[in-house]
Amino acid sequence: MEPFEYNAHASRVIFGAGTLGRLPDEVARIGAARVLLLGGRSDRAAELLGPLVVARFEQVAMHTPVEVTEQALALVREHDVDCLVSIGGGSSTGLGKALAARTGLPQIAVPTTYAGSEMTPVVGETSDGEKTTRSDPALVPRTVVYDVELTLGLPVELSVTSGLNAMAHAVEALYSPQANPAVDNFAQDALARLARSLPVIAERPDDLDARADALTGAWLAGICLGTVGMGLHHKLCHVLGGSFGMPHSPTHAVMLPHVMAYNAAAAPDAMRRIASALGATDAPAAVFDLAARLGAPTSLEELGMSSGDLPRAASLATAQPYPNPRALTPEGVLSVLEGAWRGDRPSTAGRPDIGWLTDEVVASFAGAASPRTAQLLGDLVRRLHGFVADNDLTEDEWQAAIDFLTRTGQLCSPTRQEFVLLSDTLGISSAVDLLTNSRSPETTPSAVLGPFYVEGPPAVPAGTNLAEGLPGVPLRADVRIVDLDGRPVPDAVVDVWQSNQDGFYDVQLPELEGPVLRARLRSDADGRLWFRSILPSEYPIPDDGPVGQMLRATGRHPYRAPHLHFMISAPGFRRLITQLFVAGGPYLDSDAVFGVKDDLIVEFPAAADGTRTVEFTFRIAPQGDHHG
Ligand code: BEZ
Ligand code: FE
Repeated sequence: MEPFEYNAHASRVIFGAGTLGRLPDEVARIGAARVLLLGGRSDRAAELLGPLVVARFEQVAMHTPVEVTEQALALVREHDVDCLVSIGGGSSTGLGKALAARTGLPQIAVPTTYAGSEMTPVVGETSDGEKTTRSDPALVPRTVVYDVELTLGLPVELSVTSGLNAMAHAVEALYSPQANPAVDNFAQDALARLARSLPVIAERPDDLDARADALTGAWLAGICLGTVGMGLHHKLCHVLGGSFGMPHSPTHAVMLPHVMAYNAAAAPDAMRRIASALGATDAPAAVFDLAARLGAPTSLEELGMSSGDLPRAASLATAQPYPNPRALTPEGVLSVLEGAWRGDRPSTAGRPDIGWLTDEVVASFAGAASPRTAQLLGDLVRRLHGFVADNDLTEDEWQAAIDFLTRTGQLCSPTRQEFVLLSDTLGISSAVDLLTNSRSPETTPSAVLGPFYVEGPPAVPAGTNLAEGLPGVPLRADVRIVDLDGRPVPDAVVDVWQSNQDGFYDVQLPELEGPVLRARLRSDADGRLWFRSILPSEYPIPDDGPVGQMLRATGRHPYRAPHLHFMISAPGFRRLITQLFVAGGPYLDSDAVFGVKDDLIVEFPAAADGTRTVEFTFRIAPQGDHHG
């Protein structure tokens, strides 16, 4: 089951040929009588509306500049307007919305392109080269009159780019986080209609059936745009239009296949639906080929974009996070823009689609007893398949990965856990640790367990020297365990472990008998405990296995910053596993397992006799707090 929410916008839609004639009735239906007519080609509407029109404004402009809106607003005030009728493309509709936003007046939209704005609660406005958007259900036009006859005169070039703009709404709706079955169907139908009608329109611009098909597709795509959130493509077009003056619909036409290729592996379902609507197998390539065949621009260069502006566009488009199927990085987005600037044919082309296979494998987990198992395995498979597809992985590369993992497993023993090391050095242990334990800033941060903890260390009384007879700089540690209110936690069980002066844990030294440099202490009535030991030093994690090979192959060192390990358990409290790092020690900035946290770096000052000392208060959380 895929749960969803669906918020439809209420608007009245009149669709047909010659429907412009219905305008006077529609104005009356709203109860209005003083129309401001917006749009450059509105003579016929003015004729039809006759005395209902009290003012006209024809100088609409792309991206809805606020100065233009202000001029039209003056007319609204001067003529006591009670209804806005916009005729034209997205710019006319946009002006109607901008005025509605400032006056609350009802709007009737008569779209003559395929932009879809008439179906959305959003208006994008530009001021000083920055485009901002506002969204309010009250901005959706009350009535939309689609008159297919008005689109007959839409030049082929604009029909094509505007149609591709509409297709972009449907494409991004299919992989939107708000996607739902109704919108999916609108989107797929919109794509099929536009993909089949645009080539006919390119040949015979006055073919009424093809025009009706395209306008229906544009309406459905407009519903998609108005109902669910869009992703990278819309963000990029918004940035390119608002901050670089790129023309609206040609920019959509150029960008769409490139953004699709970027998202393809992360949105296999959407790609399959798009491909099927287009009667193709490779969705991004099919959209590129369609645009090229229709004579649409295929590169940002031909639209006049300077390649020097691409990095700034990429960083503007990634400045704020927003939903997109594939993670957004400035580098990733820059590569999308570069491909679009050159006009490359998107690169999933020629690669077999593995989406069906991914789906079959994911579906095979449906019978799992635990839904969480099905979710985790399904997502893992999707991402691994995406990884294989995105990188066009070769058989040799995959075999090398299998060999690596095999050797990792073969090295594991009761005293050597190479898989934990792999997880640690890839930052996965720290990622899981952060997600699990860093939700309550008022507690002492946790840190990775590492592979050298041994269950049930020897219980020792306060003041014991854990390093009895071993060389090293003497250390005295005084610690306190408190709850979130700062009250002492008595009787906490505190396991401590560390490496010796040469950087080895006892389990790494087979000649040693019994546990060394590890112990279990208990806090007293004041929550305190203390012990003696030696100052921990930096040490390399074991690097004689596959993990060491990986570190060397990537130019990384194997060192951990000097630290003491603690595991603190007390009845009624969450167990805290953490480490204290020696301030000023080496590798604090490049710890091989990404385990250092600022709040865990503490001073170890020297006492008068040269003994180093450390004092630290651990704040632990009650059981049941978050992941507890
Ligand atoms: C440790 O601190 O003991 C450790 C943690 C992760 C990997 C290797 C060692
Ligand atoms: Fe350690």
